Amino acid sequence: MCGIIGYIGPRPAAPIILNGLRRLEYRGYDSAGIAILTQGRIHIRRAVGKLANLEAQIQDAAADSLSAVQTGIGHTRWATHGAPSEHNAHPHVSMDGAVAVVHNGIVENFAQLRRELQAEGVVFRSETDSEVIAHLVERHLRAGHTLEQAAHAAIRRLHGSQAIVLMSAHEPGVLVAARIGNAGGVSIGLGDAGAGEMFIASDIPGILEYTRRIIFLDSHEVAVVQAGNVRVRRLDGDEIVKTPHLIAWDPVSAEKGEYRHFMQKEIHEQARAITDTLRGRVDFETGAVTLEDLAVSPQDADRLHRLYTVACGTSAHAGLIGKFLIERIANLSVEVDYGSEFRYRNPLIDHRCAALGITQSGETADTLAAMQEAKRKGATVWSIVNAVGSQAQRSSDGYILMRAGPEIGVASTKAFTASLVDQYLLACYLSQQRRTESDSNRDSADAKDLAFLPNLVSRTLEPNPLYDELAHLFHDREHFLYLGRGINYPVALEGALKLKEISYIHAEGYPAGEMKHGPIALIDEQMPVVCIAVQDAVYDKMISQIEQVKARKGIVIAVATEGDPLISQKADYVLWVPDAPPLLTPVLTVIPLQRLAYHLAVRRGCDVDQPRNLAKSVTVE
Ligand code: AGP
Repeated sequence: MCGIIGYIGPRPAAPIILNGLRRLEYRGYDSAGIAILTQGRIHIRRAVGKLANLEAQIQDAAADSLSAVQTGIGHTRWATHGAPSEHNAHPHVSMDGAVAVVHNGIVENFAQLRRELQAEGVVFRSETDSEVIAHLVERHLRAGHTLEQAAHAAIRRLHGSQAIVLMSAHEPGVLVAARIGNAGGVSIGLGDAGAGEMFIASDIPGILEYTRRIIFLDSHEVAVVQAGNVRVRRLDGDEIVKTPHLIAWDPVSAEKGEYRHFMQKEIHEQARAITDTLRGRVDFETGAVTLEDLAVSPQDADRLHRLYTVACGTSAHAGLIGKFLIERIANLSVEVDYGSEFRYRNPLIDHRCAALGITQSGETADTLAAMQEAKRKGATVWSIVNAVGSQAQRSSDGYILMRAGPEIGVASTKAFTASLVDQYLLACYLSQQRRTESDSNRDSADAKDLAFLPNLVSRTLEPNPLYDELAHLFHDREHFLYLGRGINYPVALEGALKLKEISYIHAEGYPAGEMKHGPIALIDEQMPVVCIAVQDAVYDKMISQIEQVKARKGIVIAVATEGDPLISQKADYVLWVPDAPPLLTPVLTVIPLQRLAYHLAVRRGCDVDQPRNLAKSVTVE
């Protein structure tokens, strides 16, 4: 989950690379570095910590103007092997300083390669796995190979998933980019043909302001990028033709605008994201649903035996909610599993089943690996994904784009609610295709109900001073508990994850009914308990749960349905949401939990958009 930028063109490379890294800093921010090739020499600058430290270091912008074609690479790191430090920062260079490499992924056999290279006299300058790549390339260049040939030979020795960009002082104006496995994307941007500009990025927001024409590398593909030209070959195979995608995202949507944090902006973009994800997919007269990139014949829909949803983190919580939607609306059995668990439990998935990967980034290694395992076992593989051109999208038999726009904040918000709506759409679509299922087995849910959702979300996002009050009251608490039942139980899990990942307060989500089986021992007057108690089939049970917490002097913050006359007598604080059809309430009840987490994190002075130890896309297993 590191950020990578490469540039070739007539403009000074350093500002373009730094600007790109700034847009990718959400992918990792333990250290950053840049390598610029001018006058036959590679200039390296690296700094530990945030990108700002590197920018402060780079004084000699003048160095950029010494040669016509500028070649450069940059990297912002999320540490895997080797602590965050200047000497472990990328780019890494060969012994003779003539090869520089930036890398995302894990070289699983780096210890053996390190020993082999050391036996040849190589002196390592870092503790990273990535550095072995620079020395392997140098070895093959010394043997008279071209940079492309040396890259192929070096990459063949690597085990694990990698995304690599490298350059050599012996071949100015050439960058070699490669992707192996699920280590996160390699996007190649085709700039202005006249200027011969070419861009490389691990994620398209890094280069979107320069070009919308993007080529995505698939696994085991190696690209040679030169001014105005890119040539792609399969690893040790034939040359292949890659068709550029035209990316619709606008660069502005990857800016903070008037918001203090990306997370705050993205929380408040949810009404629009839901509007966008609905657009063109529902006939609000008839309720008919059309999914432009996911088609299932009635015969195939009828034959579907089970759906396996695989995802991680927030996306896994979305999948748990989707289970309710798809089972109730389409009467199709759903199993939900963490991507990191699915493929190790020998799942009983086969050709009668479908697998659904839910992933905002489309590059989460655990989710991709689970999808590949499902495909290997003969299942149809679908995905719900936000990042256009991502590996998950391109490897699926069918997909639903979230259309939430770039999600920069590490804590996922608008992608979560968009994926809930997309699963609702999928459920309605499967229901209309599964004609043999009797209507009595299905919930009366209707796609027409989605028409009101953006407005309900907007109402849930209205200004509310209670968030600041709660942040002031509870910012110093060490533990929070989140309780929910039924379709809102996964929302309790999500609320707890939001809080812990951006405020570093320990928080647990629990099915409310489980409290009496142990966790109720935790209740005291110190720990706030957030209870999702909307007026649905389990409302009375939740009221009883709140009473049990209050009987033990607990503090209750309730998420409740506007107009509920009872809840204010039971809970200490109430965050209101509009009434909605039961299967759509999670889209609303999660928003107060996102906002509560945000305000607590800000009150604690945490780095909301780039929380410690985290990265936006976890492309290592
Ligand atoms: C969510 O707030 C977290 N940042 C994290 O759990 C995330 O949801 C998870 O890593 C999955 O990411 P994906 O949706 O891009 O696959």
